[in-house]
Amino acid sequence: MSKRAAIIISILIAVFCSSWVSAQLGPGNSRSGQVIYEEHCFRCHGMTGNGDGPEASRQLVPPANFHSLRSRSKTDFELLTIVEYGVAFSPMHGFLGRMTDDELLEVINYIRTLAPFIPNL
Ligand code: HEC
Repeated sequence: MSKRAAIIISILIAVFCSSWVSAQLGPGNSRSGQVIYEEHCFRCHGMTGNGDGPEASRQLVPPANFHSLRSRSKTDFELLTIVEYGVAFSPMHGFLGRMTDDELLEVINYIRTLAPFIPNL
């Protein structure tokens, strides 16, 4: 590697690791749950969370309907774990590492506004 390339790479690393960049990813600037949902989840789970997104019919396992008792009786923590790690042998893959922790919580909150939690009595 030439000396010039090494200098450019070190500058890029310094810039991307600086607090200036990580500040952009901080809670104040994280994308809203709805924006994240529409970008990553809507295509399967549908606009209102009924599991009827434009790509739903192409999935081998049907996407969850968040209005079902099965989904609404899950705690936020259960939903978060599923969104982080995915569901084995299903098209629901994990999103851990693809979004910030705040964004994961935001998207769970958004699902809860579509279909509120009902405790399993
Ligand atoms: C490629 C299609 C697809 C995409 C994209 C997708 N999901 Fe899913 N999701 C599924 C499928 C299929 C299941 C159901 C698996 C099963 O039957 O257990 C599921 C299940 C879930 C569940 C569990 C519901 C329950 O009651 O068990 C949650 C929560 C969830 N998805 C959230 C999300 C979020 C949030 C996103 C976007 C960040 C997302 N999904 C993106 C296909 C998808």
